[in-house]
Amino acid sequence: MRVLLTGADGMLASNLILAWDRKFDLYLTGNRKNSVHSGSKYLKFDLKNKNYDYLLNWSKPDIIVHCAAITQVDYCENNQTEASKVNSLSCHKLTQRNDYTKRIIYISTDAVFNGAEKFPCESSLTTPINFYGKTKLNGEVLISDSGIPFTIIRTTILGVNRFYPSKTLVEWIYSSLKNKASIKLFGDTYFTPISSLKLAEEIEHVILYKINGLLHISGTTSISKYQFGCKFAKYFHLDQNLIQKSLLKHANFNAPRSLNQSLSVAHYQKSTGRPLHAIEGTMEDFSSLLAE
Ligand SMILES: NC(=O)c1ccc[n+]([C@@H]2O[C@H](COP(=O)([O-])OP(=O)(O)OC[C@H]3O[C@@H](n4cnc5c(N)ncnc54)[C@H](OP(=O)(O)O)[C@@H]3O)[C@@H](O)[C@H]2O)c1
Repeated sequence: MRVLLTGADGMLASNLILAWDRKFDLYLTGNRKNSVHSGSKYLKFDLKNKNYDYLLNWSKPDIIVHCAAITQVDYCENNQTEASKVNSLSCHKLTQRNDYTKRIIYISTDAVFNGAEKFPCESSLTTPINFYGKTKLNGEVLISDSGIPFTIIRTTILGVNRFYPSKTLVEWIYSSLKNKASIKLFGDTYFTPISSLKLAEEIEHVILYKINGLLHISGTTSISKYQFGCKFAKYFHLDQNLIQKSLLKHANFNAPRSLNQSLSVAHYQKSTGRPLHAIEGTMEDFSSLLAE
């Protein structure tokens, strides 16, 4: 199966590439100047381009796994035209050539919700409160209107970029605590994180078993960022006292953020019979991710 993977230099895609290297015929695309990828199965391509024919002719995908996005929430708020092109319009352009594209998997986000409902499910009302959330929701609409078989996966990911040293939340907590640096984490922001490792497994299942439609795939435990940091410190024998509790409601971000980013995964677990991880399982995933 030929798989076109966008966002090849990003955190999630790095996990997919390592998991799928021998399973699928991978065609990678990203826009980074000094990408670790090269060769005949990598194409540097800016998703802001008007026309995607070159990308689609080159990859001739059976399936597209669309991971690329501008994920910095404040950047999206301040650069709305660019954010719309990359996060929303790309979904339209990738699904224009149904002579090539047989199916698309779109990675969406909890940010399509406003946090009012504790565990929103797939049919809950979507009312994003920042521009990033709006672009991802627009992307969902464009994918579902495309006429091409699709899976939209809303998720909340924690993980490690396997190719680049980066500052994902987990990497930042880990390196700070290892270096005995104090950090602050929000005690009033709740989420249901899934590890990038486990999400990669679930996306593979969705592809192989042709599970189409709108799905929530995340962890099952709703936990504050502060509680997560403390559990993480305990699990990795790091000093929990270095973590201070702060409050999102006192923070000064350009883009508004929701105090509740949790998702209900009941539909996915019931319909597939695949259990998702509680926070303890997610910690175990980090052991292997951080051991590398
Ligand atoms: N991380 C999370 O907590 C989270 C939660 C929910 C949903 N998601 C969704 O999951 C997906 C993957 O997230 P991630 O954490 O892996 O994000 P990431 O690490 O920020 O990766 C996104 C990738 O998209 C690429 N990109 C940005 N603009 C582009 C452009 N104009 N042309 C081509 N590529 C471009 C970026 O390129 P550069 O490498 O050059 O920056 C980056 O490699 C995203 O769609 C995101 O919305 C993420």
